[in-house]
Amino acid sequence: MKKNDILDVTIESLAFGGKGLLKIDGKALFVRNSLPGEKLRVKVIKSRSGFAEAIPLQTLTRSKYYVEPECSHFKYCGGCSLQNLKYEEQLVQKERQLKETIEHLGGVKDVEMEPIVPAPDVFHYRNKMEFSFSNKRWLTEEDEHKPKDFALGLHVPGNFEKVLDIDNCHLQSELSNRILNSVKESTQSEKLKAYDVRNHNGYLRYLVIRQSANTDDLLVNIVTKRDEPDKLKKVVEKLLIDCPEVTCVVNVINEGVASIAYGSKINLLHGDGNLHERIADVNLEIGPQEFLQTNTKAAELLYAKILDYADFSKDDDVFDLFSGVGSISLYIAPHVRSVTGFELLPEAVDSAGRNAASNGILNCKFISGDMRELFRDLDFVKKAHGIPDVIVLDPPRGGLHPSIPKRISQLKPSKVVYVSCNPASFARDLKLFAERGYKLKKLQAFDLFPHTPHAELVSLLEYEQK
Ligand SMILES: C[S@@+](CC[C@H](N)C(=O)[O-])C[C@H]1O[C@@H](n2cnc3c(N)ncnc32)[C@H](O)[C@@H]1O
Repeated sequence: MKKNDILDVTIESLAFGGKGLLKIDGKALFVRNSLPGEKLRVKVIKSRSGFAEAIPLQTLTRSKYYVEPECSHFKYCGGCSLQNLKYEEQLVQKERQLKETIEHLGGVKDVEMEPIVPAPDVFHYRNKMEFSFSNKRWLTEEDEHKPKDFALGLHVPGNFEKVLDIDNCHLQSELSNRILNSVKESTQSEKLKAYDVRNHNGYLRYLVIRQSANTDDLLVNIVTKRDEPDKLKKVVEKLLIDCPEVTCVVNVINEGVASIAYGSKINLLHGDGNLHERIADVNLEIGPQEFLQTNTKAAELLYAKILDYADFSKDDDVFDLFSGVGSISLYIAPHVRSVTGFELLPEAVDSAGRNAASNGILNCKFISGDMRELFRDLDFVKKAHGIPDVIVLDPPRGGLHPSIPKRISQLKPSKVVYVSCNPASFARDLKLFAERGYKLKKLQAFDLFPHTPHAELVSLLEYEQK
């Protein structure tokens, strides 16, 4: 396979990350925007020693798993790239990807997995959406009547600058779509300038909408470059008329150049400044910039699996690493003697403490700091927080710093329950645990993000004496 070769191929499976995959003479060919079972004419755009990449030129035979996408933005938007793949087949592919990743990167042979858990809802499931403002609209044929220097929507894949204007996102609720359109209309009529990621000028950067699943809370966060909240007065007034269901509006300021909907200052424009949610029986107050699993109903299933795998006893002392606002700690608290949560963000630790108090939970405490630093001096950890019987951990996508599996093994909990949103970093970490005597005993994937290539997993590792 050489660059610019034109080939007729049949896609065999879906690779981790969502590209179609097949093998030609033992070499992997990744094909963008393709589905398993599809026959395509493709053009090779990159060829390396171990793999090549191609783009489709023509569909020769449609995949039997093809379904008509629901969303009118599907052709351009990368938000849910698997929407044209039958949902049952999405699950088959995600399960297979996880198994192969753990075998290849984690070095675990014959992984025994429980069947993947489908999402309770395959559309409108996200409790948080983050839309970008841009002064450079991605122009589609249908967009001719829209202004070129303003868009509020999602980045098209591979383009950090241009934004596809979105009116109706199928991953969020109908109410969240109304909010999106209200803010879009009023920010334009107020002539507020959308941000330019190249020159770093303009005012409006992101619109973040967070909606609780089990309470009636709805938090809107407008992220701006400068601290000028008066400019948003009319926008908020119209929003509260168009969508009286909105319970809170904040304005986060990000003056930096990093393209993130995160900042050090929060202006409160309406409501009490927090989102309130209930997971199982636990009431949670979550700050505008604090983490919560984005699919609440599926997260409830995942949390139940943590309990199942950990099989806690009332004498267990538990460490919950990367504890966020305490959602897992507080959920498991009634089943154990104590939980100590460790979390980087001081504001999330404050929320976790408040959440424990408001739920009348007395056996949890939360410690703020970077995991790597917190576990540097294990004698101090043991003196201050005791020795854990079980450790639950739920790190960000990058997984664990290599020092963490080492430190955990020195604490010697009998069980580790590892929750992960990234099979690749999980598999890498699994190897480090295995070297220290922790063996993978149970594993289950959860589809928290239908129509996207992402999957979540819960696993049980147990210490086995060599
Ligand atoms: C995937 S979230 C899990 C949160 C929580 N367990 C939950 O289910 O809601 C990961 C958490 O790790 C925190 N975090 C990221 N890097 C960290 C670090 N180096 N040390 C401690 N916590 C960190 C983040 O702030 C975030 O709250």
